[in-house]
Order: sequence, then structure tokens, then C-alpha cells
Amino acid sequence: MKRKRLVLLSEWANQRGISYTTAYRMAKRGEIPTEQVGRFSFVVEEVEVPEGKGVALTFFTHAGGAGKTSLARDLGYELASRGYKVLLIDMDPQANLTDWLGFTEVEPEETALFLYEKGILPEPKGVMPNLYLIPAEVSLAKAEVVLSREPHTAFALRGALEELRGEYDFIFVDSLPSLGTLAASAALSGDGLVVPVELSRKGVQALTVVLEAASGYANALRKMRVWQGPSFVRLFVPNHMESAGRAREAHEVLEEIAEKWRVPIAPPLARRPAAYREAQARNVPVQLTEYSEVREELKGVAEKLLEVVLPVQEVAK
Ligand SMILES: Nc1ncnc2c1ncn2[C@@H]1O[C@H](COP(=O)(O)OP(=O)(O)OP(=O)(O)O)[C@@H](O)[C@H]1O
Ligand SMILES: [Mg+2]
Repeated sequence: MKRKRLVLLSEWANQRGISYTTAYRMAKRGEIPTEQVGRFSFVVEEVEVPEGKGVALTFFTHAGGAGKTSLARDLGYELASRGYKVLLIDMDPQANLTDWLGFTEVEPEETALFLYEKGILPEPKGVMPNLYLIPAEVSLAKAEVVLSREPHTAFALRGALEELRGEYDFIFVDSLPSLGTLAASAALSGDGLVVPVELSRKGVQALTVVLEAASGYANALRKMRVWQGPSFVRLFVPNHMESAGRAREAHEVLEEIAEKWRVPIAPPLARRPAAYREAQARNVPVQLTEYSEVREELKGVAEKLLEVVLPVQEVAK
């Protein structure tokens, strides 16, 4: 299927060995098709991507601040700019994903709360070409009340996503830092978990609990015959990598755990506080900050994710 792919104008110029100024003038004269997203100009190219893969993944760990939300935002952007159609679902009442994408005035009925209370998943909002969002706001926390009163609604999100899979290539669900009922409902909604891991002793220690919880979710889905595979945790993404010995030690422990549980590991993301601060302040993915090194890192993580979840011949670059 043909889709639009967005390439940052500066990157497009770079790839062709022409100066940014020349590319900018070509865009101004309408010689290349461009699209504006915020302050950024993108060149629009047509690419062939596999049809409606509908892979649904939950960014999951009860450890706070590991990088779930940043990763959902940045991988969502990375895949959308390659031409994949991506839906992000903010399942955290803190609503960071929603805020960071610049959505401020959100009503409760525009969030997943509507699904738990009324059985209807709200219409996604457009973020940029190929990228959509079902936002959150603080009253999404009330979904926990519905879930404890009516435990079968744990599968409500899974049911709703079944119907959306044909429309999107990827559905990324950003979970909250908890192992409660709302987090479980988010975890049970798709084809497994992407687990960001803070490279610290505490960060890798948290994994035992994540892996136990993941086994529980996998067993529930296996019994319903809707999931099979070696590990429900589909990918570890080491985050906050530093050159200090402690981060390296934590990475070694992560490698042992990953081998034992047969979970692939993505290349690590470096700790870059200034870049992530700028991304939040400007409501953009971290790749669109001035810290361009981070683009290559995110590309590496996206490649690994695609390798893990899609058959080799179907990966769009
Ligand atoms: N590689 C990184 N370098 C520096 N800061 C980062 C990095 N990744 C994420 N951050 C920052 O760390 C904080 C926590 O990240 P994030 O909110 O993505 O984690 P989370 O797992 O979603 O947190 P929560 O558990 O609260 O939902 C954010 O302020 C984010 O900007
Ligand atoms: Mg978060």
C-alpha cells in the first residue's frame, strides 16, 4: 500500500549532498512537495508499506520514569515518518503523552474512560500525517473504579483494538507506572509489552516484577487462545545509558535477564536531559530537538522493534 513518508528537509538535503539553503529554496519554489509540522519542514515522499499490520504493543513497566511515554512518542514519530500509520493511546491519567504532543484541552469523553464507562473508544485526533492520538486527562483514573466494579472490562481495550487493527500499522499504548487494574487492561490489549529499562541497579531490579506480571498476562491470553509466543515482553529498551561503570554493570545484568527470559534487547538510548527537556518544552519528539545524535539512536531502536514484530521482508526503511 502506498503511504506518505516524511523526511526532515535538512536530512533530505544531506542525503543528496546539497546545502540546506538550496533545498529550502527548492521547497519555497514548490519544486519538492513539503509539509509543515510545527516549525519543521518535511519533504513528502511516497513509499510502499505493508498493508494494515495492526501490531498493538503496550509500553509497560511499573517503574516510574523509565521512559515509557518518551519512547511511545518518539517511536510513534519515527514509524509515522517512515510511512507507517500509527495510533498512540494515552492510558496514563497523568496525561504526559497528551501534554507533550501539545494537546491541552481534553474532555473526559475524549479519553479511554469513555470506553470503560460507555463501551466506546473515542475518535483519535490527528497529530501529524500518519500519527494519531487518543488522549488522556486526569479523570481517566476513574476507569480503575469501573474495572474493580466490573472486572470483565479488563478486556475492553483489547476488544476495541481488535476493530482498529485493520486501520493502523502500529498501535502504541502508553501505560501508567502501576501494576493495577488499568495497567493490566492496557497490558492485555495487544501483542505484548515494550519495556524501557533505566540502566541503574534499581531499574534492572524492577524487571523481576515486570516479567512475573507479564507471565500472568500471557497465561490469561494463552488460555483464551489469542496469544502465543516465547515471551510476552517483546523488547527491552535500555534507557538513560551513561559512560559510568554503574550503567554498564546494569546493562550486563539486563543482558543476563534478557537471555534467561528470551527477550530481545534494543540498542541503548543515552541519558540526555537537555534534549528531553527541550522536546517537552516545544511539544516535539526528541528527534526534532537540536540534539541530532538522538535521531540515529531512535532509528536503531525502531529497526530492532520492526525486526522483532514484523517478518523481515516487510520492514519499510
Ligand atoms: N534518555 C533520556 N535522557 C534524559 N532524560 C530522559 C530520557 N528518557 C526520558 N527522559 C526523561 O525522563 C523523564 C521520565 O521519562 P518518561 O516520562 O518518558 O518515563 P515514564 O516511564 O513514562 O514515566 P511514568 O512512569 O511517570 O509514566 C521525563 O522527564 C523524560 O523527559
Ligand atoms: Mg509515562
